[in-house]
Amino acid sequence: MEYRQLGRTDLNVSAICLGTMTWGQQNTAEEGFAQMDMALDHGVNFFDTAEMYSVPTHPDTYGRTEEIIGEWFQKTGNRDKVILATKAAGPGEWIKHIRGGPRLNRDHLFRAVEDSLKRLKTEVIDLYQMHWPDRSTNFFGRLGYRHRPGEEMTPISETVAALDELVKQGKIRHYGVSNESPWGVMSYVHEAEKQDAPRPASIQNPYSLLNRSFEVGLAEVAHREDVGLLAYSPLAFGMLSGKYRHDSWPENARLTLFKQFSRYTNQEAIAATELYWELAQELGVSLAQLALAYVTSRSFVTSNIIGATSLEQLKENLDSVQVSIDRDTEKKLEAIHTRHPYPAP
Ligand SMILES: NC(=O)c1ccc[n+]([C@@H]2O[C@H](COP(=O)([O-])OP(=O)(O)OC[C@H]3O[C@@H](n4cnc5c(N)ncnc54)[C@H](OP(=O)(O)O)[C@@H]3O)[C@@H](O)[C@H]2O)c1
Repeated sequence: MEYRQLGRTDLNVSAICLGTMTWGQQNTAEEGFAQMDMALDHGVNFFDTAEMYSVPTHPDTYGRTEEIIGEWFQKTGNRDKVILATKAAGPGEWIKHIRGGPRLNRDHLFRAVEDSLKRLKTEVIDLYQMHWPDRSTNFFGRLGYRHRPGEEMTPISETVAALDELVKQGKIRHYGVSNESPWGVMSYVHEAEKQDAPRPASIQNPYSLLNRSFEVGLAEVAHREDVGLLAYSPLAFGMLSGKYRHDSWPENARLTLFKQFSRYTNQEAIAATELYWELAQELGVSLAQLALAYVTSRSFVTSNIIGATSLEQLKENLDSVQVSIDRDTEKKLEAIHTRHPYPAP
């Protein structure tokens, strides 16, 4: 396993990060425990979760994934082997059950951190991420931007000041952003400089062969400001495993179970996936491993957040670190991308 510096911090995180959002819904606690054991055995030292998980979000499962991780820490004593990332939810209609509608202001962040620490059974969070912005912008990988002049938003200066306090109190070590835009990341950086507060250490956004929108604007920010990408949904919700080809959708798989997740199932995404599938066949690797190796090998990626619902999937995904993307493969991937530049609007 390769390890990479997280922003300008003294932490070196594994190039593969273990995603957790299915635990507590598609996966039981025991299955989550087994995934953490396996990931650790493969050299993974970085786990990603959120107060909001599991997914799809529901009041009954709010916080359950963090609890499962906390139970595993208690059971195994492995807290010191893991760089632990979690997230505070931003505002939104679908998560009104969280503190009556979560915001990234001082009051909410202080309450959210205490609750996450309790559920995670830990004294400190290594990376505390703002799950999505406290303003309207085109996050979750959407194209298009609609400006809403005069809308009420928590100023980024307030969020940075609160995070600075939480670092000083020893509740969090570093913070990161998620589902952010170039304007958002640069605003955090500028505010941190202005307040002599810590800088954001990372940005967690969607990135995969079906969604390369990060490359426009944010890839440059990631390099120049050392705010590297923690790439989420690298398999486009499982689409890039190839298992949804030819309309034979597997039972108990995310896109079959939760039809509301439709971004990666349109005709354009299906057509692009077919071409990537053919290339993987030609190269003699699984499509999942090719897709994951592509993400992990991008220069602006600090860590690739994989997700799995079984140990077989997890093993295949962890072993993607053995697949390398040579120049010829890169050219072939680019040729497909040129034909289908943005299949997941
Ligand atoms: N910041 C954010 O807003 C945000 C958003 C999304 C995710 N995340 C983070 O990123 C992590 C990963 O995201 P993701 O789950 O969307 O990643 P993904 O790689 O796009 O999808 C993972 C899903 O694909 C299927 N799968 C995985 N490996 C497979 C394989 N080898 N063969 C066949 N199917 C396979 C599994 O679902 P099925 O078995 O159900 O098919 C698995 O749960 C999450 O756990 C979370 O920590 C963050």
